[in-house]
Amino acid sequence: MTDERTIGGQSPIKRQPEERTISGTPQTGDQQVDHALRPRSLQEMIGQERLRDKMQILVEAARQRGDALDHVLLYGPPGLGKTTLSHILAYEMSANLKVTAGPAIEKAGDLAAILTNLRKGDVLFIDEIHRLGRAVEEILYPAMEDFSLNIVVGSGPGARNIQLSLPKFTVIGATTRLALMTSPLRARFGVVERFDFYEPAAIQEIVTRASRLLETKVEPAGAEAIARRARGTPRVALRMLRRLRDYAQVRANGIVDAAVAEEALSLLEIDDLGLDDLDRRVLDAIIVKFSGGPVGLDTLAASISEEPDTIMDVVEPYLLQLGFLDRTPRGRVATRAAYAHMRIAYPERPEQGGLFA
Ligand SMILES: Nc1ncnc2c1ncn2[C@@H]1O[C@H](COP(=O)(O)OP(=O)(O)OP(=O)(O)O)[C@@H](O)[C@H]1O
Ligand SMILES: [Mg+2]
Repeated sequence: MTDERTIGGQSPIKRQPEERTISGTPQTGDQQVDHALRPRSLQEMIGQERLRDKMQILVEAARQRGDALDHVLLYGPPGLGKTTLSHILAYEMSANLKVTAGPAIEKAGDLAAILTNLRKGDVLFIDEIHRLGRAVEEILYPAMEDFSLNIVVGSGPGARNIQLSLPKFTVIGATTRLALMTSPLRARFGVVERFDFYEPAAIQEIVTRASRLLETKVEPAGAEAIARRARGTPRVALRMLRRLRDYAQVRANGIVDAAVAEEALSLLEIDDLGLDDLDRRVLDAIIVKFSGGPVGLDTLAASISEEPDTIMDVVEPYLLQLGFLDRTPRGRVATRAAYAHMRIAYPERPEQGGLFA
């Protein structure tokens, strides 16, 4: 029922230059697995209970009224299920799904073409919605608000303003960067929801479900070892599962148990908390090169030759969640817990502000 063609020239999938096992962003090989493992209905979705409940009510209410779903904006770190949920919502509404992405819609005319092809009740999924251009956004405002399309035809003195009415449809927007979205666009969404990192128990259940679908034997201790290090991110957990399955197949009897998990994960240089080499380089730079901080994002990124975007999207959310990092107006600061994890002695600083307190 859902139509998953991507409209526009570019694929919505962003690629990272290097392939980290624990990166939340999609990588080669993720896509076909994503497809097979993606839960299809709200009921099949694991974890995110609060969000799932809200979506259930939203869907039920719209269905009862025979109405299109309200516009929904989903945000949060990569790999937590924004795309998955948008597919689920279309499925639950028995709606036709059109998929596109901010960077794929270059001109206002591109969006107008997409909009005029929508039918009543259709869901238009716009991934990376924070990357829409200004002119494109301006077409989207009235389309979302009044279901009307205002376009200028022709140019110069002969130019005419044409207003078309559109069938009632739903926009589902997804972004990892809510802060980069303009407020008029944000205001057009009736529902704005954040994805949080998953609890280890939910990740363990996701791994167990996936292992059944992939016909791989995973012992509970193996699934637990993955869950502990998957940084609360389903995409990371599923990728680890694939690596562990390979390892078990080549080095053991094909069963992912605690020992296989332990060996394979240390081979991948993923530590007890799921931090990999890049995370540790970031912490090490803040602590050693910048004496614990504060240090600005760009300076930090340059010091370890990484993209600021990678650090902001992939590294920081999890380090913040662990309480290893503080974001202050003057930059990033490593916490006492970060020093402890890196096994570096925490410098006892003189009481700040003590004189003026
Ligand atoms: N609740 C869930 N239960 C089971 N699997 C899930 C769940 N959420 C996500 N997944 C799986 O995790 C993977 C990543 O999910 P998804 O592609 O929806 O993330 P995303 O938030 O859209 O990421 P990005 O920001 O990179 O676009 C998919 O393979 C999906 O099957
Ligand atoms: Mg996505």
